[in-house]
Amino acid sequence: MDLKLRKVDIDFSDAKVHWNPDHPEFSHVFNAFSVGAPCIEPFLIKVMRQVKDLLPESATELRRDVDLFNSQEGRHYRMHMKFNTVLNEAGYDTRESEAKLKDDYRRFLEEKGLKFSLAYSEGFETLGPVLSGYFFDRSPALMRRWDQPSIFLWLWHVAEEYEHRHVVNGCWKALYGNGYWYRVYGLWYCLIHLFRFVLRESNRMVKRDLAAGRLQGRVRARLRFGRALAGLFAYALPRILFVACRRSYDPAKLPPMEQAMFILDETSKRYGILEPA
Ligand SMILES: [Fe+2]
Ligand SMILES: [Fe+2]
Repeated sequence: MDLKLRKVDIDFSDAKVHWNPDHPEFSHVFNAFSVGAPCIEPFLIKVMRQVKDLLPESATELRRDVDLFNSQEGRHYRMHMKFNTVLNEAGYDTRESEAKLKDDYRRFLEEKGLKFSLAYSEGFETLGPVLSGYFFDRSPALMRRWDQPSIFLWLWHVAEEYEHRHVVNGCWKALYGNGYWYRVYGLWYCLIHLFRFVLRESNRMVKRDLAAGRLQGRVRARLRFGRALAGLFAYALPRILFVACRRSYDPAKLPPMEQAMFILDETSKRYGILEPA
């Protein structure tokens, strides 16, 4: 798989907080993910830097992919930081939850160690292709509005997550063989840890909208919020249980996703590609 470093720099001056206009609560589920991105992605980069030092010199391709992976993740979280400024300016104060989450990741690496941190990262990266599928298969309305900066942020991000889906899994296998049970433990630890954060944070955003009158109708808003979460769970759970939890799971074998390729090509055209040094 040929990873590319696209020089993406999104102008968020027209960005919307309710970027999925028919489903503002759906937007908040992913706005909460966005708050988490500048915490988890720098953690992934730190983990992968340490992992790279342990990979054999002969794993040339994987070592190169780790560098490209880190550069892609670096750009993702920097763009999410820019978008999160929009959230903060709109009155959703995300600083305290961000600080707490960052502290979790500091603790994981310092106290729980590299094997745990890599298993957690592998779990997070397992979510990448699932979220790509969720955006590209299940949310066609967003594809029609992919020029909206907040929507583009997500489509570009999940498309690159799909593109680099094999990297952390490849590192896990290189260092720990199949390590099946520990991999599954890392996956579920990550899912529960991250979804608790997303649930708490998105719920806070919906509450704030209701208090500020940005969302009308408490019961209807709550129902839509529940539907957004249930839709995501209904899509993600079978794919995690019956694909990612298989002993033979290999993300490199997942077939290319046509719409993700479209977004990646358009992104390369729009922003250009940085050639690796
Ligand atoms: Fe990312
Ligand atoms: Fe990733």
